[in-house]
Amino acid sequence: MGQINRKLMHKDAPIGVFDSGVGGLTVAREIMRQIPNEKIIYFGDTARVPYGSKSQETVTRYSEQIVRFLRTFQVKTIVVACNTASAYALDSLEQDIDIPIIGVVKPGAKTATEVTRNGKIGVIATEATIGSQMYTKYIKNLNKDVTIYGKACPLFVPLVEEGLWEDPVTDEIARRYLTELIDIDIDTLILGCTHYPLIRSTLGRIMGDKVTLVNPAYETAIELKQMLARMDMLNDETPALGSNKYQFYVSDKAEKFVRFANSIIKYGILSAKAVNIEEY
Ligand code: DGL
Repeated sequence: MGQINRKLMHKDAPIGVFDSGVGGLTVAREIMRQIPNEKIIYFGDTARVPYGSKSQETVTRYSEQIVRFLRTFQVKTIVVACNTASAYALDSLEQDIDIPIIGVVKPGAKTATEVTRNGKIGVIATEATIGSQMYTKYIKNLNKDVTIYGKACPLFVPLVEEGLWEDPVTDEIARRYLTELIDIDIDTLILGCTHYPLIRSTLGRIMGDKVTLVNPAYETAIELKQMLARMDMLNDETPALGSNKYQFYVSDKAEKFVRFANSIIKYGILSAKAVNIEEY
């Protein structure tokens, strides 16, 4: 991480959260639940989604632009809510930033390492996240005796975005993807993509109750809370809902984003603003 400049951080400043689109709302939702005093500026890159099939250079350039955009709000910290951006871009974003920035991959990896009993962990994610081997790297750093089995599941993102959360089609696809992980006898499965917590019940049913599902969105909110507490940077005030507490920005199709967002977050997302992210 670059040198943190505490003077740039104010307790009542918002937290910047970004993702390639709507998926990161599963992370924003956990932050809202676990640290309800915090204000959030959310950016979803709806014009350039998906990141999961793009190159590291492209995802890093996009992420850098979004960080520059979020910093115009004087955010006190940034959460890279996208697994693909965390896997591909976090290391480079950390290099020259002077406020804390955290991703979703490390917290998910840490919890999975703690909960596995038989040392066999499965990771499902986008092609990019699996190809980056970042979950494997973090887990191996914590415990080199654990074996990690990665499986790219590219069809889950469109299925979730089509609203097919509980649907025979999603069931069928999930069975095809997950059978090899069941056969390998993993006891822990990391939901390594922002969208997967939304089909958690389908995944849980197929994997069976001997397999612990790890949700990096949840673990990231815990890590964020602990980090802010350590730095004495938790907001002491309770901003009223409606006082710009939660603001949403996208790079395209703001109305479509709002519709989807309202099905995930029950705080009444009234609006989202479209911005030209290429300008940043
Ligand atoms: N947000 C992405 C992730 O968590 C999934 C969607 C995409 O491919 O952009 O990896």
